[in-house]
Amino acid sequence: MTSGRGVWITLEGGDGSGKTTQSDLLASRLTDAGRTVVRTREPGGSAVGQLIRDIVLHHRGDIAPRAEALLYAADRAHHVATVVRPALARGEVVLQDRYLDSSVAYQGAGRVLDATEIRDLSLWAAEGALPDLTILLDLDPAAARVRLDSADKPFDRLEAEQAEFHGRVRDGYLALAAAEPERFLVLDAAASADEIADRIRTRVDSLLAAC
Ligand code: TMP
Repeated sequence: MTSGRGVWITLEGGDGSGKTTQSDLLASRLTDAGRTVVRTREPGGSAVGQLIRDIVLHHRGDIAPRAEALLYAADRAHHVATVVRPALARGEVVLQDRYLDSSVAYQGAGRVLDATEIRDLSLWAAEGALPDLTILLDLDPAAARVRLDSADKPFDRLEAEQAEFHGRVRDGYLALAAAEPERFLVLDAAASADEIADRIRTRVDSLLAAC
């Protein structure tokens, strides 16, 4: 990110792609190395965002696709202004589960809204803020579904979408990564957690050394 002295890393991928495991591993490694790490997420990385998260993930019944996009953008606007920018200004590492690429993949590709409009909406909400690094954990939605099924948790609104929706989300993510190869690190989420963590470690170490 251009303003602030910290480092901003986001994790992206379909539901069940293993972001939480990798975020846990990276956070402990950075903390052990003496970094101050702020772990956060969208939606729900602030008190206001938690209310929005409850609506977008658990509202029973339809939400119009454009209303859904605006709810995620509202969460993002408040989160970036009140959590992300202040942490970066303090020189901290922000390790964030999901950001605007989720909106382009889920609301753009998944809900079949215009990807450029969705990205522009998020950039407006976040006053143009972009992460230093985005790690995309790429996984075949069928394999992700097996993982989600074995977790034995009720599905939220997005997880409950059809296989075709999740296929479009995956393609949307891969298109984003192809368009911005410098910001994205794309990893095969079917690999072992250790292998993935090693690849992340190498990339994050070089990012931190350059900062
Ligand atoms: P998670 O925090 O458990 O990953 O759940 C968040 C869900 O919200 C996930 O299915 C992806 C979805 N989502 C969007 O559709 N658009 C967005 O902009 C974000 C941040 C998440």
